[in-house]
Amino acid sequence: MNNVDTGFTFKRGLHLKNRLVVAPMTTKMSFFDGVVTNDEIEYYGLRSGEVGAFITAAANVHENGKGWDGELGVYEDRFIPGLAKLAAAIKKNQTKAILQIFHAGRMTDSNILHGSQPVAPSAVAAERPDAQTPRELTETEILEIIESFKQATERAIKAGFDGVEIHGANTYLIQQFFSPHSNRRTDEWGGTLEKRFKFINDLVDGVTEVVDRSDVKDFIVGYRFSPEEYEEPGIRLQDTLFLVDQLANKPLDYVHLSIGNYRNHSVSEAYQEKPIIAYIKETINDRLPLIGVGDIRNGADAKEVLATADLAAVGRAILIDPHWAQKVLDDQDHLIRTELSHYDRDELRISNGVWGFLEDMMPERLQ
Ligand SMILES: Cc1cc2nc3c(=O)[nH]c(=O)nc-3n(C[C@H](O)[C@H](O)[C@H](O)COP(=O)(O)O)c2cc1C
Repeated sequence: MNNVDTGFTFKRGLHLKNRLVVAPMTTKMSFFDGVVTNDEIEYYGLRSGEVGAFITAAANVHENGKGWDGELGVYEDRFIPGLAKLAAAIKKNQTKAILQIFHAGRMTDSNILHGSQPVAPSAVAAERPDAQTPRELTETEILEIIESFKQATERAIKAGFDGVEIHGANTYLIQQFFSPHSNRRTDEWGGTLEKRFKFINDLVDGVTEVVDRSDVKDFIVGYRFSPEEYEEPGIRLQDTLFLVDQLANKPLDYVHLSIGNYRNHSVSEAYQEKPIIAYIKETINDRLPLIGVGDIRNGADAKEVLATADLAAVGRAILIDPHWAQKVLDDQDHLIRTELSHYDRDELRISNGVWGFLEDMMPERLQ
């Protein structure tokens, strides 16, 4: 059993003062071109200083990887000064700052991309209303996107972050390469499960090489994944256990499950004995630390997650109560603010975009 308030040291040497992590959450607050805004810096500063680490909102590594307006950009050097301010705002009282890096792939549209068609492993539209059919990436473009992730990592180092998290979850480009729904390629980047893993394999190798060649100390690399898809064909838990087994042999510092509720069971009949997180932990078999997440609302939930995972990430609860972590560390669950009112929006620096998202996601916690 891991306690919330005990420290944790990653393989590359980075030390966290406790086991609580802020989960990556889009703020929809960046400028139209992805430059960090002052409002955004205040949003991060307000919630930092108590948790061990803070993972930022997803930042796009390539201009054609932009998923939505108000998203962070890390695809050119001109973003470094703003990102440096963001890293500094997070790094107070020893909280560590991790930049999440991603590419939206087919989960965007030509409005967001200013007229360009979205790109993806194959020309297959996502199963969602009004989804546009993407253009299939050429091999040269695939290699260029891997290069973009490497350059984004170099920029994160220059900006003073303590690590990057490769966003392989939530149906974006990296997951699209692994999914049999979005990847129908017949070249070396698609086909069998092993071939659908090639993009992830080369990407993880590329990013970790950048870090290990650099002269920074203690800079970590994590990988986030989603365990299952509902599409037919789609990623099943069995495929994810293959993915996790491969990742656990890589020079990564952690893997991070993306799931709405830590208690969730698989949709596959063969995996009903225990929650998904327990199957993931079992597959890792102590080769890498695991971050657990999903509807953690108080210290009791965090402790339950830490019975399986090494670190516990919290999202919505810390949007609602910026001092959630200190209350959990002090064993003061009864003091946690659990509901949001429109009157709190300014104080909590929650943007219109995120507010709309929360209205859909958790109406019961909005007053
Ligand atoms: C407003 C909002 C934005 C999110 N943005 C991201 C993101 O940029 N990257 C990501 O990996 N997950 C994102 N997520 C998912 C969270 O990291 C987390 O997995 C999820 O909210 C479940 O945790 P929670 O119940 O503690 O909120 C987002 C969630 C919310 C509520």
